[in-house]
Amino acid sequence: MQVTILVGSQWGDEGKGKIVDLLSENYYIVARYQGGANAGHTVEIGDDKYILHLIPSGILREGVSCVIGSGVVIDPVALLEEIEVLEKNNISVKDRLFISQNAHLIMPYHKLLDSINESGAQKIGTTGRGIGPCYIDKYARKGIRINDLLDRSLLAKKIKMNLDEKNLLLKNIYGKEELDVEKMIEQYQEFDKIIDPFIKDIPHYLNNAISEKKSILLEGAQGALLDVDFGTYPFVTSSNPTSGGACTGTGIPPNKISNVIGIVKAYTTRVGEGPFPTELLDEMGEKLRKIGSEFGATTGRPRRCGWFDAPLVKYSQMVNGIDTVAITKLDVLDHFENIPVCVSYELNGKKVKTFPSDSEVLNKITPIYETLPGWNSDTTGCENYEDLPSSTKEYLSFLEKASSIKVEIISVGPKRKQTFYKR
Ligand code: GDP
Ligand code: IMO
Ligand code: MG
Repeated sequence: MQVTILVGSQWGDEGKGKIVDLLSENYYIVARYQGGANAGHTVEIGDDKYILHLIPSGILREGVSCVIGSGVVIDPVALLEEIEVLEKNNISVKDRLFISQNAHLIMPYHKLLDSINESGAQKIGTTGRGIGPCYIDKYARKGIRINDLLDRSLLAKKIKMNLDEKNLLLKNIYGKEELDVEKMIEQYQEFDKIIDPFIKDIPHYLNNAISEKKSILLEGAQGALLDVDFGTYPFVTSSNPTSGGACTGTGIPPNKISNVIGIVKAYTTRVGEGPFPTELLDEMGEKLRKIGSEFGATTGRPRRCGWFDAPLVKYSQMVNGIDTVAITKLDVLDHFENIPVCVSYELNGKKVKTFPSDSEVLNKITPIYETLPGWNSDTTGCENYEDLPSSTKEYLSFLEKASSIKVEIISVGPKRKQTFYKR
């Protein structure tokens, strides 16, 4: 029996979806614990490609139950769209998707406020999914939760209370049109009928499963450097993607966690604003983006690309307690003569070995690189560790040492079969 947390180790889009899909074969339950439809987790099975935003990637494995924990913020519109796409592809969510009664709902005003905030002085480059404003209301204790959908008069009262305040803000501060209370009450009362069968007491469900020795995989969204506490604040998301968030976002206590798997991209990417020390603004960055198809799975935005940042991953290993790592997109480096890896930084003429998560400091540091030889050969067909060219193995060993990580899984393409264990 295993309770495993799977986290993104960099700025998101490390290939979590693909690895969750692969691992889910050995788990009874896959659960999301934070974030919302800002996530875009891609899974390719045969010729089919799925992008999951809210529903755990485990849904694509027959027989696996999926949970959306209380730490997740749920946009009912996005959820229903996702269910529809799955059902159209003959993937049933009935009796295998369970949603926490305590999860907060994304409301239309959250998305509106997200876009208004983004047009202000401090642009974060959000996904525009209303994530930040929804978590603001959660922590201000004004949020509307899944459970509230079950009591029509309470739901109406809460929507009215929120809109009384939001409309004042929209009209008087932002000069926007007020939102219609009755229309919103009607719209959200409709969601009740559809979402009701999925609602569950998640802490009891998950802890009972653990008592029955059933394995659980906790699927993180985003990545450690987007964590509101440990990331490059303020250029972060509004939740805790790091492993601690898996306990608070599901109700599984820390002493029931068996292990933490970190998903690490063989280079670095980031979407949105914020510091990125190893970013390549030249043709090398363009080459990584092109070969790696680095375009956002949720917004389609081009991802910023750069070399591997070892102190960053070492920091991520520390704050997440990562036991083993899945290295993804190694094949993207097949076409490079030389591959620089950032091993430390320089700040005011001094060498800095640890990753400074402070954005102001990060803007001032210069990465120091060690350059490794590329392998200039196709790894996409490799089926085991021995198949890899010796320079690729050296690259992996270098990353292990420089970032204090232990590579267990290697991914050399987007397909399920393009993955193997380093035994
Ligand atoms: P996630 O948000 O962490 O699940 O990652 P995304 O799905 O947003 O982005 C990862 C992208 O890389 C997806 O398009 C995957 O299909 C693709 N991918 C995953 N692993 C590999 C790999 O090893 N090689 C290549 N070339 N693509 C991969
Ligand atoms: P997955 O799960 C990459 C980024 C946004 C922005 C910041 C805040 O697919 O790895 P938000 O909409 O959350 O308020 O935006 O976080 N961001 C992601 N970047 N992958 C993601 O998810 C992301 N989710 C949010 O680009 O910089
Ligand atoms: Mg993604």
